[in-house]
Amino acid sequence: MSIDLERLRAETPGVVSRVHLNNAGAGLMPLPVLQVMTDYLRREAEIGGYEAAAEAAPRLDGVYDSVAGLIGAARDEIALTENATVAWQMAFYALPLRAGDRILTARAEYAANYVAFLQVAKRTGAVIEIIPDDANGVLDAEALERMLDERVRLIAITWVPTNGGLVNPAADVGRIARAHGIPYLLDACQAVGQMPVDVAALGCDMLSATGRKFLRGPRGTGFLYVRRELLGKLEPPMIDHFGAPWVAPDRYQLRPDARRFETWENNYAARLGLGVAVDYAQAIGIEPIAARCRTLAGLLRTGLGQIPDVTVHDLGPHPAAIVTFSVPGFGADAVKTHLAGAGINVSTSDPASTLLDAKRRALPSIVRASPHYYNTEDEIDRLTTAVRKLRDRQ
Ligand SMILES: Cc1ncc(COP(=O)(O)O)c(C=O)c1O
Repeated sequence: MSIDLERLRAETPGVVSRVHLNNAGAGLMPLPVLQVMTDYLRREAEIGGYEAAAEAAPRLDGVYDSVAGLIGAARDEIALTENATVAWQMAFYALPLRAGDRILTARAEYAANYVAFLQVAKRTGAVIEIIPDDANGVLDAEALERMLDERVRLIAITWVPTNGGLVNPAADVGRIARAHGIPYLLDACQAVGQMPVDVAALGCDMLSATGRKFLRGPRGTGFLYVRRELLGKLEPPMIDHFGAPWVAPDRYQLRPDARRFETWENNYAARLGLGVAVDYAQAIGIEPIAARCRTLAGLLRTGLGQIPDVTVHDLGPHPAAIVTFSVPGFGADAVKTHLAGAGINVSTSDPASTLLDAKRRALPSIVRASPHYYNTEDEIDRLTTAVRKLRDRQ
């Protein structure tokens, strides 16, 4: 299957006015996603919110099948959430951690996850330890194996960090976690939508992701996967009468499926948008998406690398479609503003979003350009040309 770039760009209104290279921030929604949400919102206004939900019930229910199909899970293993952070928190805070328990994580762990580790460590006396990297800066799975003992109660890593193209060996970690019976929570926020995600191959027990980035869904959507065998053992950190119906005056009963992590009220327009975004990606094919993402990101790294003194910061031998760089003499915000002036969207990555990695590599705030399959080679050239022009002002 190859990418029909012309059609996909015709279905992406945002490409008309901008060169959008901020898919790690939020991808451009395609028309079908926009359409389903606006139609649904209109229906809410016309017939009422509860009535519109009843009318769309089969489609809303189908979102679980779509998400499950995307990651090779079963629908009862999926909870829909308002973002990846809530999905991750629901899983993490459900785990019973005690004094002396060890949480193993990766160096480029996302700030939201790491501060939660710190909070639980403060509350319980659990300890956080960093899995060493190999010579390429990639999580070293053999080193992980050497760290294991009976006090390791959680392995929680980010697959593709927010601050660069690094791809950690999530499946190797999964094999080790499974072999030792250790719960494994994988942050797949920057991976879903740009590469194949198969929970069986990954060997993860829990996986969190967002809808708005490489999946091209709406903002305010995310999901959590929890492996069926673990579900019954996890009590959500907070419950309501949806996830845990009130069955007797003194008793609630947790739902048997992953929706025990959800609450009653939801943004149904956004949920439908997420479902359509997932179906849209599947119809294109995740493999061709992954191949094109890597090609464009590779072109960008090569182009940036040819500009004197510009530094590309991405780690690892097979980086994903997040390209981070610095231009000497210009702060990341100045570069972003300059590029915005040329009609190009990028973002910046602050040290505080991946503090341990930033400190280890002495990274300042860096520029983050994240192409997607619908970008063109010409757009990649436009970015490198604009960066070159800025560099030449020095
Ligand atoms: C690696 C990683 N994990 C988690 C998140 C949080 O996702 P959300 O904003 O949907 O909660 C992000 C967001 O940028 C991220 O890059």
